[in-house]
Amino acid sequence: MTPDAAGTGFWWERDELRYRHGRLTFAGADVAALAATAEGPLYLYSAARIRANLARLREALRSTERPHRVYYAMKANRNPQILSMLAGTGECGIDICSPDELDHALACGFPVERISFTGTGVSRRDMARLLAHDGLTINCDSIGMIDRIGDQLPGREIGIRVNPGRGVGYGDDPRLTYAGMRTTKFGIYREQWDAALATVRNRHLRVTSLHFHVGCGYLDRQLGDWEAALAAGLQFLDQLPDVRVVNIGGGLGLPHRAGDQPLDLARWASALRHHFAGRPVEIAVEPGDYLVKDAGMLVLGVTNVERKRDTLFVSVDGGFNLHPEPAFYGLPCEPVACVPRTADVAAWQRCTIAGNINEALDLWGEDIAMPPFEEGDYIALLNAGGYGAAMSSNHCMRGKFQERLI
Ligand SMILES: Cc1ncc(COP(=O)(O)O)c(C=O)c1O
Repeated sequence: MTPDAAGTGFWWERDELRYRHGRLTFAGADVAALAATAEGPLYLYSAARIRANLARLREALRSTERPHRVYYAMKANRNPQILSMLAGTGECGIDICSPDELDHALACGFPVERISFTGTGVSRRDMARLLAHDGLTINCDSIGMIDRIGDQLPGREIGIRVNPGRGVGYGDDPRLTYAGMRTTKFGIYREQWDAALATVRNRHLRVTSLHFHVGCGYLDRQLGDWEAALAAGLQFLDQLPDVRVVNIGGGLGLPHRAGDQPLDLARWASALRHHFAGRPVEIAVEPGDYLVKDAGMLVLGVTNVERKRDTLFVSVDGGFNLHPEPAFYGLPCEPVACVPRTADVAAWQRCTIAGNINEALDLWGEDIAMPPFEEGDYIALLNAGGYGAAMSSNHCMRGKFQERLI
């Protein structure tokens, strides 16, 4: 929680997320007042922000002057209200990665023609559930998966997820890079390509979509590497005459720290225009974070404030199990005081914000400048709308939380 260098406020502030009269407001609501009604950890989501993120992305795609479609990646946040709202816009389809996600997408109003499956480790049992739905796009991420589809439904249309061997991720973190130097489990590599195509032929399948997802959280600084990955992915098209759609995956990032430069969507779209020139295919994108991450926050209550040796610990009533992403991937959620006890930044003190799980890594922020806290205050963890609730667990039987879509 640091004011930006220009001294104009906090780096994360925007119209519908800022302090008004000393209280944090989000999507027109007073965050602390809402948290007080929840009696425990509370995820807040802004419907307007999700719609605005989608509209911005669609406008950038329109500027490519190419046919295009968006599939929202359900794995980022499967809140039914969010899904129904997105289905109702008619502006996007949905990316799923398991048979249960398929059932959930259908129940929330997405027609099967607007659902795209890209999963990994798919069993025969999973496959039977997927193949029961004609019109479902199924992207295969292994030769075995191609073979199993051919075994169950020869002649079916399929997509292939390739691994272009180049990737990107937030802060160039290898943990967030799904294709690159490190061998990952995702997609079919160039070295396997001839064998993959032979399986397609032997099983009389038709490849109508090409897919690659090369990493998560890329920002402006990674656009050069992303373009190289895009070019490498598109090379697979040369031997796929029936492909109608190229799905470039998700991974579009957003700022997590002061100083992060947001993704320049105009530059991103112009790279797409350039690389897709002369290719008669539709562009598909399947973002998760880009649509929901900055549209959500996790609000926790302060339970204790105590100095131990050299560290001032501010304990809160929710731990990393409610939002494992910061602990797993090092993607931070900015902690923000909902009602700072002083606006005088000079009076702030360095503290460490600790969750309520018996794991040493359960820290939301270490040695950060924050206003003084007392028991009963609230702290909002920003950018918690993606991979938070969806990845949460009941570790230590502290898995309870509420969700509200404003
Ligand atoms: C295949 C696939 N598509 C899309 C996404 C969404 O990624 P993001 O939320 O970074 O946009 C993921 C995330 O892991 C993925 O694995």
